[in-house]
Amino acid sequence: MSEQTVEEPIEELDAEDEGVTRRGFVKVAVGGMALVYAGAVGYPIYKYLDTPVERAEEEAKVTSIALTKGEDKLAPGSALMFKFGSHPAMLIHHLDGKWVAFTAVCTHLGCTLPLWKAGSSTITCACHGGQYDPKTGKNVAGPPPRALQTYNVTVAPGVVTISKA
Ligand code: FES
Repeated sequence: MSEQTVEEPIEELDAEDEGVTRRGFVKVAVGGMALVYAGAVGYPIYKYLDTPVERAEEEAKVTSIALTKGEDKLAPGSALMFKFGSHPAMLIHHLDGKWVAFTAVCTHLGCTLPLWKAGSSTITCACHGGQYDPKTGKNVAGPPPRALQTYNVTVAPGVVTISKA
């Protein structure tokens, strides 16, 4: 008799543990999915509502970037686009061997500039025809009120370092 009284509570306890474990698993799984969903929906909304001042502060933290995917082998007379922080930027390797980098955002109304084409004497904004000198970034024609922001370019084997001037 004493054996039965000992075994019965153990069996009941096992059955309860199994039930709680299943319920607990479902609760954790549903809770986890709810958290992932809230994050997936909430983060873009949070970023959208981010103030321009906060964005500018984040942008100011980026002072230099390293391009390490073979950009140092960019042929003379070629150009490529890259991101400097969140802004598009352009790296140009001129035929005379000079490397230059500018922000690729037009200073008129902020259109993204097209990639400079070899042989072209200007970088021409497609929005209103503003033109920039591809060697200096200076505004040379059209409505842009000022030159493009320039970056310092340092080329070493395997890496092109672009930093704020
Ligand atoms: Fe480039 Fe107007 S936005 S010329």
